[in-house]
Amino acid sequence: MSEEKKLFKPDSYRVTIDNITIDVEPGTTILNAARQIGGDVTPPAMCYYSKLQGSGGKCRTCLVEVAAGSAADPRPIPKLVASCRTNVMDGMVVKNITSERVLDARAGVVEFLLINHPLDCPICDQAGECHLQDLSYEHGKEGTRYEFKRRTFEKEDIGPYIQLHMTRCILCYRCTYVADQLTDNRAHGILDRGDHAEISTYISKAIDNDFSGNMIDVCPVGALTDKTFRFKNRVWFTKPVDAHRDCDKCCGKVTLWQRGDDVLRVTARKDEWGEVQSYARPDDKGGGNQPGWICNDCRFHKKKTSDWVIDGLTNINRHSVISQGKYPGLVMPNETIAEVMSGRDPKLLMDIHSVSDVNSVELGSLPGAATSNIFEKKDQ
Ligand code: SF4
Ligand code: FES
Repeated sequence: MSEEKKLFKPDSYRVTIDNITIDVEPGTTILNAARQIGGDVTPPAMCYYSKLQGSGGKCRTCLVEVAAGSAADPRPIPKLVASCRTNVMDGMVVKNITSERVLDARAGVVEFLLINHPLDCPICDQAGECHLQDLSYEHGKEGTRYEFKRRTFEKEDIGPYIQLHMTRCILCYRCTYVADQLTDNRAHGILDRGDHAEISTYISKAIDNDFSGNMIDVCPVGALTDKTFRFKNRVWFTKPVDAHRDCDKCCGKVTLWQRGDDVLRVTARKDEWGEVQSYARPDDKGGGNQPGWICNDCRFHKKKTSDWVIDGLTNINRHSVISQGKYPGLVMPNETIAEVMSGRDPKLLMDIHSVSDVNSVELGSLPGAATSNIFEKKDQ
């Protein structure tokens, strides 16, 4: 079957995103339709998380332009829409990276997100895997127009294993959805509103639920970090490997971040969108599509390689700084310079004056004296 035929199915809605047409189930959001196409067509998402119900609609990084609403009513939607919260209609035409308005709006959103976010990537544990860092490289501007004092907060311990740097939080609400949907006692949330809004625990209650560590994995920035890993290493110096163990609380499928034989950090396995991977449970009769959240026991207490069965090198996106020299199937290109130079070494430091006399001037031709280099003359 041709690639094109596979994309078109009966009883589905046909949507065109950045000139690529695909058929999707009715009820699919524009963002998820774009994810089915993949690549650059997919808008970035800082607050939407497919495994957390109700997430999305907070950050506006996923804005797209709807150039035609549907086949029945092909008028464009005048304002940009949040693709994570807008369902496709049959015949809809969407522009993401092909729209100047979208790219301009996204640069504005990044500028807003960075109003209070500190540029402390050099000392932040999330550097190298921070979605905001990637977003600002891809869509940000080099400057800011903000002139007021930025808000700052004291660091706060959220339970024994998690540290909250509220100064870095972009209020995406993902961690509160984890607390709501994965733990039985939600002890933290967003307090206050507007410029005063902050994540905090009620009456300093510690979060000691078995699944609270997943808040670290869903945080798109370095606001929630693993206290057992903080400042231990830069993530790109570690070697990520997939591993598993029999766990009676969670799926037991993790990524170990190793340095030599030491396990510095344990996280859930992530998919290409930075979300926890889904997997099929053995007892799942429906074929299974369960989010691979992991328990605190696997995350914080199994820090020896011997605790795990290693499955192999984690497949990290080759564009990520973490993947340097580590992604499977890496084939280094041949060094061509020696070939071109017929085996001779390239001369890397070349004194241009030894091969060119462009800067030598016959001073006799100038009003003045003897033949010399003008630079020598100047230095005298
Ligand atoms: S702490 Fe992280 S996950 Fe929670 S709202 Fe802030 S940015 Fe989002
Ligand atoms: S991902 Fe859509 S608004 Fe945040």
